[in-house]
Amino acid sequence: MAGMKQFKILVTHPEIPSVAIRKLEERCELVICPEVPYPSREQILSKISTDFDGILWLSKHRMDKEVLDLAGPKLKVVATVAVGYDNIEVVEAKKRGIKVGNTPGVLDAAVAEIAVCLLLEVARRVPEGRNCILEGKWEAVRPQWLLGKDLQGSTVGIVGLGNIGQAIAKRLLPFGIEKLIYSGHKRKPEGDKLGGIFVIFDELLKQSDFIVVACPLTEETRHLFNAKAFAEMKPSAILVNIARGDVIDQEALISALQTGKIWGAALDVMTPEPLPSDHPLTKLKNCVLAPHLGSATEKTRAAMAMLAVDNILAALDGSEMPAPL
Ligand code: GLV
Repeated sequence: MAGMKQFKILVTHPEIPSVAIRKLEERCELVICPEVPYPSREQILSKISTDFDGILWLSKHRMDKEVLDLAGPKLKVVATVAVGYDNIEVVEAKKRGIKVGNTPGVLDAAVAEIAVCLLLEVARRVPEGRNCILEGKWEAVRPQWLLGKDLQGSTVGIVGLGNIGQAIAKRLLPFGIEKLIYSGHKRKPEGDKLGGIFVIFDELLKQSDFIVVACPLTEETRHLFNAKAFAEMKPSAILVNIARGDVIDQEALISALQTGKIWGAALDVMTPEPLPSDHPLTKLKNCVLAPHLGSATEKTRAAMAMLAVDNILAALDGSEMPAPL
């Protein structure tokens, strides 16, 4: 017997991995926003009504008071398919007794791989070299051509030694780095275990040859990297951001890269996303860009969607969510 579906769920994106959708569909009636490449905020809002028990939120748009007001008192859970929740008004939801979950852990390795990939790309000028080939400007016979920076023997500073920061550190240590330092709220046992030294942010700026941003975007970290921070960094330093674009004051970064205040940057995240193709960042040879690919592997995206579905089902069953916020 087909049976009555127990719950009604809004899914805010049509391209959720099918394994997760199938699991949700076993017990829930789904309303799926159909728009590709992604629904606008208005398109999502137009689908929300007061008969949903849960929302699977895969969107960079804000999940805020307006969304919650439209959904009304029946809504029990919002599961975002992301680890970062700067776009989710968690406090507002919880105030209304609505549970909120995210997807930590399952994407640590994939994001760390992108961090290492981007760090090496900018340090060894790989995209710049590729462009030289395409433009017929291969000058490899010149011994000083396209020289990069060594990761071996360097000081690496990680801003935010959470799960992702630790995954990045673990992967960078075998490159023979000289020193691992990190900043954040406090010294961590996990940092000690990695041989990392906790330093204040200013010290991290001064000492690091490579800085990897792996902290959440909060009011405290918004524009943490501003003109003053760039002025404190080594002119030979490289900045890698896999967290959120707004942790960096992008105007200040562009100016730091143009004037040689720092040597290079690699960004998987930026402002806005998608970045216009003629944006000043795209004109900088010493800036490597990736279109927010951190968690973009088949396995990782499926695991994230599954965890979000498990968050929803657990909340609706009244049991503990695997990844509550
Ligand atoms: C991606 O940026 C995420 O927060 O999962």
